Amino acid sequence: MEQKDITVEDFRHVLDNFPTVRTIALVGEGEPLMHKGFFEMARMATDRGIRVVTLSNGSTFSSSNVKKICAVGIVYISVSIDSFDPSTFAASRIGGDLTQVLTGIKRLADYRDSHGFQYPRIGLKGTLFDQTQNQIPAIVAMAKSHGVEIFEGFQPLNPMSTYLPIYPTEKLKALDTDEMGQVTAAILRDSAKALTQLKSVSQFCEDEGIALSKNGRGNGLRPNCDEEWVYALLSGDITPCCQIKTPISSNWNLTSHTLDEVFADTLYENTRFNLWNGLFPDHCKGCFKTNV
Ligand SMILES: C[S@@+](CC[C@H](N)C(=O)[O-])C[C@H]1O[C@@H](n2cnc3c(N)ncnc32)[C@H](O)[C@@H]1O
Repeated sequence: MEQKDITVEDFRHVLDNFPTVRTIALVGEGEPLMHKGFFEMARMATDRGIRVVTLSNGSTFSSSNVKKICAVGIVYISVSIDSFDPSTFAASRIGGDLTQVLTGIKRLADYRDSHGFQYPRIGLKGTLFDQTQNQIPAIVAMAKSHGVEIFEGFQPLNPMSTYLPIYPTEKLKALDTDEMGQVTAAILRDSAKALTQLKSVSQFCEDEGIALSKNGRGNGLRPNCDEEWVYALLSGDITPCCQIKTPISSNWNLTSHTLDEVFADTLYENTRFNLWNGLFPDHCKGCFKTNV
């Protein structure tokens, strides 16, 4: 996907424009820790009393990054681990080094504990393929033994239209077969077991006083969709779900409209209403959440 970093100045404006924000996730399609302004932005947020969470491939938990992560007070960091097998992991992560990731997680947990930091708590996330669909129990055991405490969740290869142009041809084959359904079913089955080994994100949020039920807003009918956030693109366009990455309406843009105006927009309301009821718009075509 096109890689583009938010500027530190734009991030400052976002914080200025949303003074009531309490928790912020510094995430994107790329690797947050590779952003040169990552720690500056994190500090800017924590200085305002905002909790910062993030999501990483775990490959750059060097001694100096580990110190900075703890010092800036990042509350939660989840690490993506797609396989327990180093060669499968390397294939999925294009040269990724599983040992380096696991060593880094342990380095972070050890530094945190030996220096009296409460945070960050460390979570687990990942993407499963047909050949790795039964690996959640082994990944969980391995991650737990290196300091992971929270199970955030796994997802199958994303079959939505925004992703298709970036896949190699051989991966496209896997998307229109029963394999997707099988992977989703395996994830559901093994996630329940994983939650007997690791704390759930909902529990973590409850412990930390972060309002996140994962069940949609108060009058929502359908879990999984219409979660309690908006997803913002660097252009200022927002969508009701992070799986929808194509701007739907020019009225849903935070450079020209306030959040309240977007929420009051009829199309926005209708889209959320449809998500609640499982009436999925075209933008949701292929999303694994529509099968859950
Ligand atoms: C896009 S990554 C970005 C953050 C960080 N670099 C990482 O690796 O976790 C966020 C999550 O999306 C998952 N992911 C990335 N590409 C995906 C795809 N095409 N289909 C499904 N999940 C994907 C990753 O496994 C990861 O857990």
